[in-house]
Amino acid sequence: MTDASAKDHLIVALDMPTAEEARRLVSTLGDTVSFYKVGLELLFAGGLDLARDLRRQGKRVFLDMKLLDIGNTVERAVANATELDITFLTVHGHDSKTLKAAVSGRGDSRVKLLAVTVLTNLSADDLAEQGSSFAPADLVLKRAQLAYAAGFDGVIASGQEAARIRAATGPNFLIVTPGIRLPGSTTDDQERVMTPDHAISAGANHVVVGRPITQADDPKAAAEMFLHHIREALARSLPASGLH
Ligand code: C5P
Repeated sequence: MTDASAKDHLIVALDMPTAEEARRLVSTLGDTVSFYKVGLELLFAGGLDLARDLRRQGKRVFLDMKLLDIGNTVERAVANATELDITFLTVHGHDSKTLKAAVSGRGDSRVKLLAVTVLTNLSADDLAEQGSSFAPADLVLKRAQLAYAAGFDGVIASGQEAARIRAATGPNFLIVTPGIRLPGSTTDDQERVMTPDHAISAGANHVVVGRPITQADDPKAAAEMFLHHIREALARSLPASGLH
């Protein structure tokens, strides 16, 4: 298993107060990390310029905008976002109207659309508070199926739901999993967490890691530790060639 292949599966969430701090972290991580997520925190602090810079450095960019609005607005927002040469863009996957509007806005651009199913910090009690009687895993699956039917490229879900999503969709549907933690570490505000190797083994294509890397004393060593776990999971999933 080459390191490039493991690297492709790790997305570091740049949830930092300023673009300056994010740039410093990107420079510290150097060649260890090739894929970054820019989200809402940085959006209002120079995040789009940072996304352009990351592209110029040859990094891949996941723009985590979690769009949700009337169809017309979502369609136009997605169409404008496709100008940014990003790899992934997120839209809340609550209903087919929103999802189809996003697909229409994406047009023939190469940007891949990912539907946010149920945020990984939400538990069954939180969903009940919103008026939903679904268990998180069931609502995730329902929304993943809506996204698949609408022509989305994939979903954001916790690693705990990856296997069911993979079984209900197809081999090319992308499963991107936040809420990733190493065994025994703090979960912060996340509810539905999983280790990186378990998430990859369950069918996740990419794991998104924020605070365990961005707030580590040695972010590069932390990223390397995540890559090590990903590499192990990928090695386990390789067919045992030559034995049959
Ligand atoms: O710091 P941590 O590893 O918990 O960060 C997880 C990242 O994934 C955050 O940027 C958060 O916005 C994002 N995310 C999530 N749950 C989702 C979708 C995105 O935690 N369902």
